Amino acid sequence: PASFPPDRLGRPLRDLRISVTDRCNFRCVYCMPKEVFGRDYAFLPRAEILTFEEITRVARVAVAHGVEKLRLTGGEPLLRRGIEELVAALAALRTPDGRPVDIALTTNGSALPVKARALKDAGLTRVSVSLDSLDPDRFAAMNDVGFPVDRVLRGIEAAQKAGLGPVKVNMVVKRGTNDADIVPMARHFQGTGVVVRYIEFMDVGATNGWRMEEVLPSSEVVARIDAELPLEPVEPAYRGETAARWRYRDGSGEVGVISSVTGAFCGTCTRARLSTDGKLFTCLFAADGFDLRAVLRDPAKDDGDLTAALGGIWGARGDRYSELRAGLGARRAKRIEMSYIGG
Ligand code: GTP
Ligand code: 5AD
Ligand code: SF4
Ligand code: SF4
Repeated sequence: PASFPPDRLGRPLRDLRISVTDRCNFRCVYCMPKEVFGRDYAFLPRAEILTFEEITRVARVAVAHGVEKLRLTGGEPLLRRGIEELVAALAALRTPDGRPVDIALTTNGSALPVKARALKDAGLTRVSVSLDSLDPDRFAAMNDVGFPVDRVLRGIEAAQKAGLGPVKVNMVVKRGTNDADIVPMARHFQGTGVVVRYIEFMDVGATNGWRMEEVLPSSEVVARIDAELPLEPVEPAYRGETAARWRYRDGSGEVGVISSVTGAFCGTCTRARLSTDGKLFTCLFAADGFDLRAVLRDPAKDDGDLTAALGGIWGARGDRYSELRAGLGARRAKRIEMSYIGG
């Protein structure tokens, strides 16, 4: 079977990001603010969440039609019980020409000291760990549950030891909150093989109080690091990479910047997202998704129907929110939360 035809803007589907839970043990201020995700917040009930079998079925159809990278996200994906079994099932998939797929996971790192080994054994390729500060107080304030930074650092080491690499560290930069951590973060991981990626604070979701004044442009991130640790640009690792890469001139490693606000990368966006309850979103900023779960749970429908649904949704896609944002004036009112759709 051939790849799905490209979308309306000529972009092929290559990357499927799968949210396996909408829950998280952190309450990062830019993602799941406590005032919204409090004690009474209604997370998805079990019956609405895709089973591992359902997720694997979607992934199998996607991989049979051009997808080469699967990324497990959340919420915090390591909170989903038995996640290793899902990793193993996905690791058994093969592209039409017989290659295994890249299976990555985005995590807050809190469970990595315990789970890194088992994840590697199950077939996980690599992890990206979110870490916004090395300063214990600032980190505790940003995750807003007082989680200690040294436990995340131990998680990163465990992932490296287990061979889940190269490990990437994602730091969301908020001007005035953690921008003082940019250079210390670079220094800390320089020479360790860990790649730090600085992410511009995005207006994803509708609850994180986003303001342009709190976005520190990536150009400034690069300038600040370069002033102390000289950098030079590197070619992208693959077409459509979210991060622009920079390496230390002394050969001690590299960093990346993800400029979703000041330098949109929609033109090469090959990503689809599967939410925890089985909706397919063709953009991080989409207002609505297509209910694939209805297809999955309809006894009258088979993999042919699922293939037709996926291919049809992708073919109709014209999203390029980040490129349009600048010209929108007002932002789209209804936006889906990142903890539900998956980072
Ligand atoms: P690699 O496969 O290692 O290149 O990772 P990746 O950049 O595809 O994925 P990762 O989850 O590490 O992405 C890092 C961050 O980039 C995410 O947490 C988002 O903040 C942002 N990001 C990823 N994909 C998109 C996207 O399609 N649109 C926008 N606007 N931001 C994205
Ligand atoms: N802006 C930028 N990145 C975000 N993430 C979550 N919310 C935002 C936001 N508003 C990132 C986290 C993590 C991934 C799951 O998504 O840093 O790396
Ligand atoms: Fe949890 Fe990640 Fe969101 Fe933080 S950014 S609240 S760790 S899902
Ligand atoms: Fe892709 Fe939408 Fe992000 Fe643009 S804004 S890169 S189309 S997910």
